[in-house]
Amino acid sequence: MAEEFKVLGVCGSLRKASFSMAALRACKDMAPAGMTISIATIGDIPMYNQDVFDAGVPESAKRFYAEIAAADGVLIATPEYNFSMPPVLKNAIDWVSKMPKQPFDNKPIAVFSASQGPLGGARVQYDVRKVLVQLWGLVLPRPEVFIGTAQTKFDAQGKLTDETTRKFLNELLAGFKTWIERMRAAKPK
Ligand SMILES: Cc1cc2nc3c(=O)[nH]c(=O)nc-3n(C[C@H](O)[C@H](O)[C@H](O)COP(=O)(O)O)c2cc1C
Repeated sequence: MAEEFKVLGVCGSLRKASFSMAALRACKDMAPAGMTISIATIGDIPMYNQDVFDAGVPESAKRFYAEIAAADGVLIATPEYNFSMPPVLKNAIDWVSKMPKQPFDNKPIAVFSASQGPLGGARVQYDVRKVLVQLWGLVLPRPEVFIGTAQTKFDAQGKLTDETTRKFLNELLAGFKTWIERMRAAKPK
């Protein structure tokens, strides 16, 4: 039987009506055969502080570490804040990056962005990629998905209504599944 890949979804917005989260939920619902997506909680991870780290890593950060470590891949959906990464996302990455055997090493990762601006967060994606590549994450190069003017692509309940966006997300998920298989095959024994 073909293997089922477990993918951890991570959202860079804490907002209840977040378009990035709405798109991540749409991905969960449309995951291709052989892939299941669960969505992490990162909003309860405190701001990174080396003193807190040294006194004992908070349970929320340990939980996030364990979820990444157990996942076959990580799917990041994020808005763009002032051309870059929202602090909640960078903070969560920073915490786990300091733990022994940081979990992004050799981990297949896919990134997409959503914003209310026309570019769909085109700039934030390169910051997310830069940070994760630095941690030896295996970031899917393409397809790139930027959900621009996101406020026109979901209904009031946060359901994805734009068929073109659905098609792009489907292509991203299919490409990510192939990427996970490819990275597995390339992994040094
Ligand atoms: C602090 C802040 C900075 C923002 N900067 C940008 C930006 O640089 N580019 C952009 O397209 N949208 C920017 N926005 C608007 C976001 O696209 C919009 O708020 C979006 O809905 C946030 O994502 P979410 O719906 O997932 O919460 C910014 C919003 C905030 C709160």
